[in-house]
Amino acid sequence: MGMQRRFLMCRPTHFAVTYKINPWMDPSAPYDTSLAISQWESLVSAYEELGHQIEFIDPLPGLPDMVFAANGGTVIDGTMFTAQFRYAERADEAPAYRDWSERQGFEVHEAKHVNEGEGDFLLAGEFLLAGTGFRTAHAAHLEAQELFGRPVISLQLVDPRFYHLDTAIAVLSGSNGEKPANIAYLPEAFSAGSQAVLRQLYPNAVIANIADGEVLGLNAVSDGHNVVLPVQATNLAAELTKAGYHPVPVDVSELRLAGGGPKCCTLELRA
Ligand code: ARG
Repeated sequence: MGMQRRFLMCRPTHFAVTYKINPWMDPSAPYDTSLAISQWESLVSAYEELGHQIEFIDPLPGLPDMVFAANGGTVIDGTMFTAQFRYAERADEAPAYRDWSERQGFEVHEAKHVNEGEGDFLLAGEFLLAGTGFRTAHAAHLEAQELFGRPVISLQLVDPRFYHLDTAIAVLSGSNGEKPANIAYLPEAFSAGSQAVLRQLYPNAVIANIADGEVLGLNAVSDGHNVVLPVQATNLAAELTKAGYHPVPVDVSELRLAGGGPKCCTLELRA
């Protein structure tokens, strides 16, 4: 019932929490790289069972956040808009994802402004939803609009826990540009004006609560029907079921120690 997707993922071979660039990260707390790997493998299996096509990029030592492939760029219409990371700790991930895309035959557009790929750019039907406030610069929204020729909707994030757009919005249908699009979101992660915009554009949106947000429940991946989301987001799963979607819970709690969930691990490749 869902549409087949093509994803890029990166095994968390070098996963660690050694620096702090978001409120979820605590470099003094323990983490378990092998648990992160097995949880990530269960995410890969969930996608495979849903029939999605998965590509893998080689993890690089010294880049503990490289597992979060969604931040590696934005790929629409066969063009890769490269990432330019806000923090030096992740800067070297950008050329790795760019080079991978080049080798795959994608057209590469080098970003001029700070942007963290699909962490802050979410295609939802005809619109490219774009987050700003913590990571991606507003100038990058304009750049993306010129590059892709799709209307960009700039949204203001206001809570540091929800520092990337993909921690506050899940695209339920339309992530490959198909219509009609729908989303799930956490209203309180946005400014009042941005909340009003979301209400206008998505009157049938699934509304998440703060308990969902606090387990990164919005960091979900949907093929239009099946929604892969953190198992801890029980309220959101129930709301999705009521709205006619099929929740597919996965446990990636170890990756949450770095501030990431299923969507963060998943870059959608659109030919
Ligand atoms: N530790 C990473 C960071 O703060 C987590 C990135 C999560 N990725 C995402 N798409 N939200 O940059």
